[in-house]
Amino acid sequence: MAKMTMTTAGESHGKALVAILEGLPAHLHVDTEAINADLALRQSGFGRGGRQKIEKDTVEILTGVRNAETLGSPVTLCIYNKDFANWLPAMSAGDCDAAAMEKKALTKVRPGHADLTGVVKYAQTDARNILERASARETAIRVAAGGVYKGYLSALGVEIAGRVKSVCGVEDDKEYAFEELQKSKQSQTGIIDEKIDALAVEKITSLKKEGDTAGGVVEIRVKGLKSGFGGVMTYADKLDARLAQGLMSIQAVKGVEVGAGFDVAKKSGKEIHDEIFYDEEKGFYRTTNRAGGIEGGMSNGEELVLKVAMKPIPTLMKGLQTVDYVTKEKAIAAAERSDTCAIFALEIIAEAVVAQVLAFAIAERLGGDTMDEVKTRYDALK
Ligand SMILES: Cc1cc2nc3c(=O)[nH]c(=O)nc-3n(C[C@H](O)[C@H](O)[C@H](O)COP(=O)(O)O)c2cc1C
Repeated sequence: MAKMTMTTAGESHGKALVAILEGLPAHLHVDTEAINADLALRQSGFGRGGRQKIEKDTVEILTGVRNAETLGSPVTLCIYNKDFANWLPAMSAGDCDAAAMEKKALTKVRPGHADLTGVVKYAQTDARNILERASARETAIRVAAGGVYKGYLSALGVEIAGRVKSVCGVEDDKEYAFEELQKSKQSQTGIIDEKIDALAVEKITSLKKEGDTAGGVVEIRVKGLKSGFGGVMTYADKLDARLAQGLMSIQAVKGVEVGAGFDVAKKSGKEIHDEIFYDEEKGFYRTTNRAGGIEGGMSNGEELVLKVAMKPIPTLMKGLQTVDYVTKEKAIAAAERSDTCAIFALEIIAEAVVAQVLAFAIAERLGGDTMDEVKTRYDALK
């Protein structure tokens, strides 16, 4: 079996987004409906902007799957951008209409975006040539790929769930059982507590009125992952490092915590470390999980607990101060149709990214040309 890899391609207003997934075993069931349900969730949540009204993301599987099962060959996923039709004269891969390109050009580079550094680095004058790829539209195809990896994990009894914990400081600090996390998908902002959800809606509404934006924190949990995934011998194998890398690669993510996270620094050793016990029936066990399911870069068999912090959306309708890249004159940053808050979407994207990282780690350890082989090897682990 080949090593698992995944790459995405596509521009925000280009024809399509695609992902190529290599190294999947044969006979993995691919649930297109479940993928489309996640894609719909990624487009929802209170505070999203106009783009979501144009797109209705659905995945098309171009290669590697027959009769809803993987063949073992590379799987290509595709999501067409409906908006491309409106942008074609300016976004064609062939010669573009010059007037249309000029109309869509972005030179009033936006703080908090890749615009300024990108135009300098890639010798562009139009930041559109940067932002089309920097845009979080790319996360749609990562969610689709994540759906395939969730299927792989689910076949092994590994489940991922999450919730929004806070929106711009409005926080739900309650602890929830894994099974309760699903309720977040029915709330407006992803916050489970109804009263706090309503407060978060108020907060987003008032920020929107002021032309301002919000970020927040999501919690992602993983149940059923056996111990020993990741690695202690080589720094690059460490599971916490790989999860942080994957999560930090999501647009607007500025922090990742594992278990107690930054709180570890405020507490003593006795308050933080999870003591180990042994019982004939249970084997080794712990009664606390402040480590968040990872010790020494390896899963330890407890639930994985991760927190992900998202900065406020950087496009402000009452734009921030900037400079026009071409004229060098003082300007107000460009403000394209934009979200006020996308934390609900971030939760879905983070689930997908965690699924990808874990599937890769499992495949590295267990190999397997067929799903049965993978499952037999996984079940044989303690
Ligand atoms: C789901 C999601 C939706 C986003 N929507 C917007 C948006 O509508 N407008 C915007 O300016 N930034 C949006 N962002 C954030 C930018 O893509 C991101 O801040 C920018 O590309 C710069 O990257 P960085 O924040 O990782 O440095 C979104 C991010 C995510 C995860």
